[in-house]
Amino acid sequence: MEGGWPTRWQFLLCFIVSLLFQGRANSFTINCSGFDLHGVDPDVFQTIFDQKDFRPVINYSIPTHVNISFTLYAILDVDAQLQLLTSFLWLKMTWKNPFISWDPEECGDITKITVTTENLWLPDIFIVESTDVDQIPEGLSAYVNHNGHIVYHKPVRVTTICSLDIFYFPFDEQNCTFTFSSFLYTVENLLLGMDKEVWEITDTSRKIVNTQGEWELLGINKATPKMSVGSSLFDQIMFYVAIRRRPSLYVLNLLVPSSFLIAIDALSFYLPAENENRAPFKITLLLGYNVFLLMMNKLLPASGSPLISVYFALCLSLMVVSLLETIFITYLLHLATTQPPPMPRWLHSLLLYCASPLKCCPTWHWKANMDMGLISTHLPGLKEPGEPGKELGPREAKLNVGSGFTRAQLTDLWVQFGHMMDTFLFRLYLLFLSSSIITIIVLWST
Ligand SMILES: *[C@@H]1O[C@H](CO)[C@@H](O)[C@H](O)[C@H]1NC(C)=O
Ligand SMILES: *[C@@H]1O[C@H](CO)[C@@H](O)[C@H](O)[C@H]1NC(C)=O
Ligand SMILES: *[C@@H]1O[C@H](CO)[C@@H](O)[C@H](O)[C@H]1NC(C)=O
Ligand SMILES: *[C@@H]1O[C@H](CO)[C@@H](O)[C@H](O)[C@H]1NC(C)=O
Repeated sequence: MEGGWPTRWQFLLCFIVSLLFQGRANSFTINCSGFDLHGVDPDVFQTIFDQKDFRPVINYSIPTHVNISFTLYAILDVDAQLQLLTSFLWLKMTWKNPFISWDPEECGDITKITVTTENLWLPDIFIVESTDVDQIPEGLSAYVNHNGHIVYHKPVRVTTICSLDIFYFPFDEQNCTFTFSSFLYTVENLLLGMDKEVWEITDTSRKIVNTQGEWELLGINKATPKMSVGSSLFDQIMFYVAIRRRPSLYVLNLLVPSSFLIAIDALSFYLPAENENRAPFKITLLLGYNVFLLMMNKLLPASGSPLISVYFALCLSLMVVSLLETIFITYLLHLATTQPPPMPRWLHSLLLYCASPLKCCPTWHWKANMDMGLISTHLPGLKEPGEPGKELGPREAKLNVGSGFTRAQLTDLWVQFGHMMDTFLFRLYLLFLSSSIITIIVLWST
């Protein structure tokens, strides 16, 4: 029984082969009377059409060589959520059918004819990564050359699995693989070769892809490892297609408006803290930013955590933090003007230290105070209690430093403190903002 199978197969093969080539073992030349004035006589090709279910070889131990090439015509969709790349390819396959040949000199200089693909044996080349049935238009034809070369072009829309990394969105580059392989034929039956050099494929594809769409083609590389499944070995050609997103749409619609809003948020610290406009302004800005994010959400990748989402979250949290800061300063100033609490000694010393210009408080801040008439009471208020403060013993100072001040002086000191805090927090904010933006830009540019 075990020994019976191979012999039965051999017998079957011999039977098929002998059936196909009855009386034609030496010559497969087509009789030229088939090419007459009324076109091609289908009868002369009938024997070839009848063989289309079998791989066209004279000796079944010889593998069929199929040369392939493709032109990447368009990148239709890059789905980061499902990790799918949908692209449109013009696939070209060439192979040799040894049963077809005719002499063009005898046949009115006809060197090639077209034959519908339903009548020909076609290699079952498919793309390993594809997740969908190839959508090929029906009724395609192939060129059949007088020496048996068959050239078959087919347009295919393929959806392939591709490991997409959208961390650097919208400045991302992707590297997707198209692996062409036979579905059934092992290396003993079918070998793959290149119809064109890979640089030719790259050049023609780049010219076409780069004129349209969101993606530009960076390059195509190839590798030809054999794939072994169980005990059988399959020939395959892998093409690595590297593409890069054109970021201008996202820069204009996402990054620029967002940067403007965060810049306005930073500038709104220059609105005086005393007048009550700053908090409403920041709330409006926050609201505007949320509306912006809602509207632009559809431009963002649906999954993953790209750096740009971190950037948006950062901008949003900076706005919230700056709003909280404004609330705090407003509260402090309100407290200072209504019922100023006693001032701890260390705070007073700090204020004195900072009151000297060229130290931590900026000049614009003093100008702002002067405009509001606060400065008139500030400076004397600061200096006078400062001197007795030093003379006081530590015990008395601990009890109540503020007791030496009048209420107006205390208010001024607290207002002074509020402004100092405002400036300090603003600088902290600016420092954090610039460092995080620089970090993000550095990450993007690598
Ligand atoms: C070709 O076919 C025609 C008609 O079928 C026949 O008369 C002719 O002898 C054939 N020629 C050869 C070389 O077989
Ligand atoms: C088929 O090819 C193999 C290897 O080239 C050879 O050994 C064998 O004799 C061939 N068979 C025939 C029937 O020509
Ligand atoms: C396939 O490509 C090889 C190498 O370029 C070439 O020798 C061979 O003739 C080609 N085969 C076909 C069927 O085009
Ligand atoms: C794409 O990935 C493959 C292997 O993963 C690598 O050989 C190839 O160089 C990569 N291409 C580019 C352009 O990075």
